[in-house]
Amino acid sequence: MQWQSLSLFATPVIKIQIPGYLQARDFFFERINQQVDAAKVRKEHNHITHYFSESNVFKAFPELAWLSDELEKAGTFAYCELLNYRKSRDLKLTNAWFNLCDVGGVQNRHSHANCRLSGTLYLNTDDNTRIRFMHPLSTSSMHTEIYDQPSEDDNPYGLGFHFPFVDVAVQAGDCLFWPSQLHHGYDTNKTPNRLSLSFNLMPQHMNTIYQIV
Ligand SMILES: [Fe+2]
Repeated sequence: MQWQSLSLFATPVIKIQIPGYLQARDFFFERINQQVDAAKVRKEHNHITHYFSESNVFKAFPELAWLSDELEKAGTFAYCELLNYRKSRDLKLTNAWFNLCDVGGVQNRHSHANCRLSGTLYLNTDDNTRIRFMHPLSTSSMHTEIYDQPSEDDNPYGLGFHFPFVDVAVQAGDCLFWPSQLHHGYDTNKTPNRLSLSFNLMPQHMNTIYQIV
């Protein structure tokens, strides 16, 4: 049998190193974790605590302006240059928050709304730290997809279309950027005090009609 398989429409997850990340990690453990107003902390049942997830941590702490600038610079490069949205202008952060996770914590599958590009900067990791990205054609149980379970063995033709998700290893200083609608999360966390900073980005101009003020 003659056959051909076309791998169409690659899904981007872009990794960029952010200089000075140790300074951000120390700032979190010395300032934010110790002194933050309890109203700004959301403790989840799954061993994850979010700090400033309903506002913007950069507005609360001007000392972190340098990090906001670094993330917007890296995000603009990823979006405009690598993903080819060169008609849009610079990306701006719409919100940003810290995530602290105990061993055993789980981040449920989710995506981010009202933004184009999302990302996470990793600040405290070890050899076990992973993030899971779901296949973009897979859906959550809220949708009417007819689900079938593929074989978990390797495909005999070397193809990888059956993978329902991919786990990506991350190290402190890595910053991942991905399209905001891509579902992600992670299974049981094995990293003590897993710390990251997540954020959403929007272009200043979009489709010639949208503008961030
Ligand atoms: Fe997320």
